[in-house]
Amino acid sequence: MAEAPSAPAAPLRVAVVGASGYIGGELVRLLLDHPHAEIVALTGRDSAGKALAAIHPNLAGADFVLAPLDEIGAAEVVFLALPNGEAMTRIDAIAEGRRVIDASADFRLRDPATYAATYGRPHAAEAWLTRFAYGLPELFRSDIRAARHVAAPGCFATAATLALFPLVASGLLEEAFVNGVTGSSGAGVAPRATTHHPFRANALFAYEPFTHRHVPEIAQALERAAGRPASFVFQPHSGPFARGMLITVYARLSQTISSAALRAIYAERYADAPFIRLRDEPPNIKWAVGTNYCDLGVAAQGRVAVAWAAIDNVLKGGAGQAVQCFNLMMGLPERAGLTLRAMNP
Ligand SMILES: NC(=O)c1ccc[n+]([C@@H]2O[C@H](COP(=O)([O-])OP(=O)(O)OC[C@H]3O[C@@H](n4cnc5c(N)ncnc54)[C@H](OP(=O)(O)O)[C@@H]3O)[C@@H](O)[C@H]2O)c1
Repeated sequence: MAEAPSAPAAPLRVAVVGASGYIGGELVRLLLDHPHAEIVALTGRDSAGKALAAIHPNLAGADFVLAPLDEIGAAEVVFLALPNGEAMTRIDAIAEGRRVIDASADFRLRDPATYAATYGRPHAAEAWLTRFAYGLPELFRSDIRAARHVAAPGCFATAATLALFPLVASGLLEEAFVNGVTGSSGAGVAPRATTHHPFRANALFAYEPFTHRHVPEIAQALERAAGRPASFVFQPHSGPFARGMLITVYARLSQTISSAALRAIYAERYADAPFIRLRDEPPNIKWAVGTNYCDLGVAAQGRVAVAWAAIDNVLKGGAGQAVQCFNLMMGLPERAGLTLRAMNP
């Protein structure tokens, strides 16, 4: 049963560390209009001392200057939007007496050995790994409600896990092949050879076969939530657009099922999930981009199923999901500050 949310007497004091990045900028955009949050500090590394609007021109009119990275003032909740490996070196100081929502991969994996194997270095704050709830509300809502520290999932992990979970939990899945296509904003604000416009425009290419860093995260989330391991292969691709992500799952099932019956399984699994929209047709990223929705679709023929998930990698795959976790952790309505709808056309 969902707990009845209640509005806090005063706005909650929040800080965004790494406010100059893509996730940080979207966190600021959401928190500026959040009915129960008051931004008390925005921080950056090279951008410290600069006006917010000079870094994020879309936020002109919001009168903030970025502070040095660790100056989080009187914040009671801190959003961390730093590159992987940075949050773990600061967590002892930042979490002292405060709640934390981290957008990076630093606290998503529970096992230090899996972390080291995945990220190629030992974890610098192992004791914290089991203190963080995994911030995928559709699977771990009660953990997040009870948590003081939340690790927001990766963008591919969000979409792939949501597309796969009903197949795994129902016991239908024998094995799955998962394709993902992401926009270039997934790589962050700093330009790189593989993210600049001449390279990415009109291009579509695969990368990191079998080795993408979100694979252990997806496996961990599915096994913990469904109570059984899932057999899947994940192949990411870079798409020629800035925002959005589409996952296509091809699954071999343990039994024959109709599209309607499979759809009913998904509908039941996500009946209490306000940001899941189960569509009648394969989803288009265009309907999810700019929103916190995950649009799902399914079809089946004999013992083969196809499932799709479309999200905005920066919102449901990052900043929006972090705010969704903030709402749950602080006992607020899950949709507070997240009533965004996509534009058309
Ligand atoms: N982009 C996505 O779609 C997405 C989705 C889900 C999760 N994430 C995760 O969220 C985190 C932030 O991602 P992002 O895309 O917003 O990154 P980004 O655009 O590269 O921004 C990085 C931010 O961290 C600050 N920073 C502090 N120490 C830094 C250092 N040593 N090197 C570089 N920057 C440093 C930067 O400050 P200055 O600019 O002031 O130097 C900037 O504010 C990452 O861990 C990422 O994996 C990203």
